[in-house]
Amino acid sequence: MINKGIILAGGTGTRMSPLTKAVNKQLLPIYDKPLIFYPISILMLSKIRDILIIVNKGQINQYRKLIQDGENLGIKITYQEQSKPRGLPEAFILGEKFIGNQNVAMILGDNFFYGQGLSENLKKCTKLKSGAKVLLHKVSNPESFGVAKVNKRNKILKIIEKPKKHVSNLAVTGLYFFDNNVIKYSKTLKPSKRGEIEIVDLLNIYKKKNKLTADYIGRGGAWLDTGSIEDYFKTFSFVHAIENRQGVKIACLEEIALSNKWIDKNQVRKQIKFYGNCSYSNYLKKIITPSA
Ligand code: TTP
Repeated sequence: MINKGIILAGGTGTRMSPLTKAVNKQLLPIYDKPLIFYPISILMLSKIRDILIIVNKGQINQYRKLIQDGENLGIKITYQEQSKPRGLPEAFILGEKFIGNQNVAMILGDNFFYGQGLSENLKKCTKLKSGAKVLLHKVSNPESFGVAKVNKRNKILKIIEKPKKHVSNLAVTGLYFFDNNVIKYSKTLKPSKRGEIEIVDLLNIYKKKNKLTADYIGRGGAWLDTGSIEDYFKTFSFVHAIENRQGVKIACLEEIALSNKWIDKNQVRKQIKFYGNCSYSNYLKKIITPSA
C-alpha cells in the first residue's frame, strides 16, 4: 500500500505571468478554492494521509496560512522548500527523508483530475508493490504532451516527450506511483538541454527494467493541466459548470475527510469558523446538516 504522497507545488509559472509574479500558481483560484486544494483532494481520495508539499523558497508560510499542518483535515502535511525548479524528479531527492523506505505517489500541483470511478481507480493504483505506474488520458493534441505507447497487458513500450510524429494519443498525466527505487534512480538523472532533470528519463529507467505499467482515466473522466492561461481558464469554467449544475463541490477537502472518517462534524464546524462567511462555508454547513 502506498500511504505517502508528494505534491510538487513550486515552479516559476512563467506561462502564467504576470499572474504568477507575486503569487505562486498553486495559490491562484480555480473558481471557489485555491488550485492546491485539487491535488490534495486527489491524494485524500487515494486514502493517502501523509503528504509532503514542495514549495518555492520563502513560500511555506503562505501555504501554512491556508492549509496548516493538515491536522484540521485529518491528514499530516509536511512542507519543504525547493530552492530552484530543477525538474520534477527532484521531488524524490528532496523528499528522501519523507519517503523513507516506503513507496510513494507524486502529483503535480497544477494538475486537475475529475470523473466517475476515479477514487476506485486511485485506490487500485496505491496497491503498487514494485515498479512504477502512470495514469494515461486520451488527448486530441498529443504533440503537446509526454505520450505513451502501450501493449495489451498495459505494459508501456515507449514514452516520448512532445512527439512530432504520431505515436499514440495517450498522454502521461501528472500523477505517478513509484516504488522506493525512485530515490536511487532520480539521483542518477542528468539535466536535459533545458537544464532540468526530466520525469520522462526517470520513467524510462523503469521501462528499461520492464517495470512501468499504465492505468487509465477513462472517457467518463477529465484531466486538465492548468499550466497555461487557456487551460487554467478551461479548468476554472469546468469546475464552475459542474458545481453550479450539480450543487456539489469538487475538491472540498473537509467533505472528503469527513467521508473518510478522518474528521468529525465538530472539526468541520471549526473549519467553517476558520473560513468565515463565504459560499465554501455554506457548503460545509450543508454537508453536516442531516437532510430533512
Ligand atoms: P511546469 O508546468 O513544468 O512548470 P511551471 O509551473 O513552473 O510553469 P511554466 O512552465 O509556465 O514556467 O511544472 C509542473 C508543476 O510542477 C507545477 O505545478 C510546478 C511544479 N514544479 C516544481 O514544483 N518544481 C520543479 O522543479 C518543476 C519543474 C515543476
